[in-house]
Amino acid sequence: MLNEVTATRYVTPLREGGSLPGIVEADDLGTYVMKFTGAGQGRKTLVAEVICGELARRLALRVPRLVTMQLDPVIGLSEPDQEVQELLKASGGLNLGMDYLPGSIGFDPLAYQVSSAEAGKVVWFDALINNVDRSWRNPNMLVWHGDLWLIDHGATMIWHHNWPGAQASAAKPYNASDHALAPFGPDVASAAAELAPLVTEELLTEVTALVPDEWLVDEPGFDTTDALRRAYVAPLLARAADIHERITLDAPAKATPSQAPGWLTDHLKPWPHPTKDSKTGQPGEKDGK
Ligand SMILES: Nc1ncnc2c1ncn2[C@@H]1O[C@H](COP(=O)(O)OP(=O)(O)OP(=O)(O)O)[C@@H](O)[C@H]1O
Ligand SMILES: [Mg+2]
Repeated sequence: MLNEVTATRYVTPLREGGSLPGIVEADDLGTYVMKFTGAGQGRKTLVAEVICGELARRLALRVPRLVTMQLDPVIGLSEPDQEVQELLKASGGLNLGMDYLPGSIGFDPLAYQVSSAEAGKVVWFDALINNVDRSWRNPNMLVWHGDLWLIDHGATMIWHHNWPGAQASAAKPYNASDHALAPFGPDVASAAAELAPLVTEELLTEVTALVPDEWLVDEPGFDTTDALRRAYVAPLLARAADIHERITLDAPAKATPSQAPGWLTDHLKPWPHPTKDSKTGQPGEKDGK
């Protein structure tokens, strides 16, 4: 089981996260990033966070410690933001907490070098769990104490939104061309040789057992929560065996001009970055425009 703590103080929302996670203190004196069952993305996001986060940890990838967090919505009563109030009200009971990494910064490919071995492990792992949310637009990695940490595994295992097609979906390839670590020459073959043998039925059973029953009950097509847990094991096991053969890494995107707006891509250009007017989002004077 994951450790369970009780939320004692809602500190502040993390507005950069689409699901509006919050920084929350708990009765173990820890500070956590809390992800809420009442968020629009639903409880499957939290199931994916637990299965994939704990799987990554067992493959020696760095992931902040996970806990389950009891929430009494009363702790948000003094919160002035209506959206936060609504979210807390909809999330009474068991939610997910992730150790807050104080002083960490978002991964920036220009400021932080990743070895091809480490990049290979992360890309292989993301292929295994079918993570579509670790692109250069939204890397979902933090740098803390000089190391790379993986966060945000909510948008993974797409097959759990359509169980009848799960096994077929698990056979699909993974296009890593957009992956935030694609420019670092990921050594996917070595990663697969080292990590795939570790992804056994026993290990997958161990990590699926960590998901609280509350987030698994009443799933259409499954009589028990354990039957649903077993359904997560099969596609991951099948994928671990040979997904490395179906990872595509196209030539770096730089070869073709980006279609993305400047405010998304400017930070990827060599220093000095073009400035932009804070009000209009348009290029500022230093660009000579
Ligand atoms: N453990 C952590 N320690 C410190 N900061 C964190 C941690 N987890 C998340 N953050 C910060 O909060 C932001 C939002 O977190 P996260 O990406 O997990 O939320 P999300 O709602 O799933 O976001 P997305 O919009 O990517 O789906 C991160 O980009 C990061 O800046
Ligand atoms: Mg995110």
